[in-house]
Amino acid sequence: MPFSIAIDGPAGAGKSTVAKAVAARLGALYLDTGAMYRAVGLYMLEGGVPMEDDSAIAAAVPGAGVLVRHVDGAQRVFLNGRDVSEAIRRPEISMAASRVSAVAAVREAMVAMQRRIAEDCDIVMDGRDIGTKVLPQATLKIFLVADEKIRARRRFDELQAKGAPDTYEQVLADLVRRDRDDSTRAVSPLRKAEDAVEVDTTALSIEECVERILALLQDALRGGRA
Ligand code: DC
Repeated sequence: MPFSIAIDGPAGAGKSTVAKAVAARLGALYLDTGAMYRAVGLYMLEGGVPMEDDSAIAAAVPGAGVLVRHVDGAQRVFLNGRDVSEAIRRPEISMAASRVSAVAAVREAMVAMQRRIAEDCDIVMDGRDIGTKVLPQATLKIFLVADEKIRARRRFDELQAKGAPDTYEQVLADLVRRDRDDSTRAVSPLRKAEDAVEVDTTALSIEECVERILALLQDALRGGRA
């Protein structure tokens, strides 16, 4: 039976970097579920859908053809046939993704797709509700956390490298707001699953974090939870 690792946590905790590295070490598929919500957010913004109107968002969801493909081991995200893998990384799309992800119809469509992808392969999935909702039977559940200022600094450095004009203060404010919204929404809020192991990446290197997760997976597989 294939194994699955669920990695959840707030923005900037290092989920995608760590999940990608863990998947590469295990030869498993890596699925960045945030990218799917980002593609839906981009679709709504481009279509001029009023972002404060849940029913307008829900009505527009069927038009957003989100597809995830793995090309040479890297995930690419397509929106109605267009590769939007880079476009969805813009800061305004982070907010749009967070907004649309609070709408039940959006979550239902994305969760169904995520479960289908995980059906018959070893997978490392990162997001906000993977351990609580998408893969409640995951072999291993990790909740990654890190100090807020460190998370904002990491996000800021990433954006700087891409030449984005945002200031550190803006990045910190956006991150705090997004975490608050993601944690307080009614449907599948960001929270640690009861059986998840919390890993604090504030003072850990990526390699240390990856090693810890690999060791935890060995324990979980030995414990017969696979
Ligand atoms: O991981 P990320 O920053 O790319 O995610 C963007 C937004 O998508 C995040 O603020 C909340 C939402 N999201 C979600 O609700 N559930 C997931 N499994 C992944 C992301």
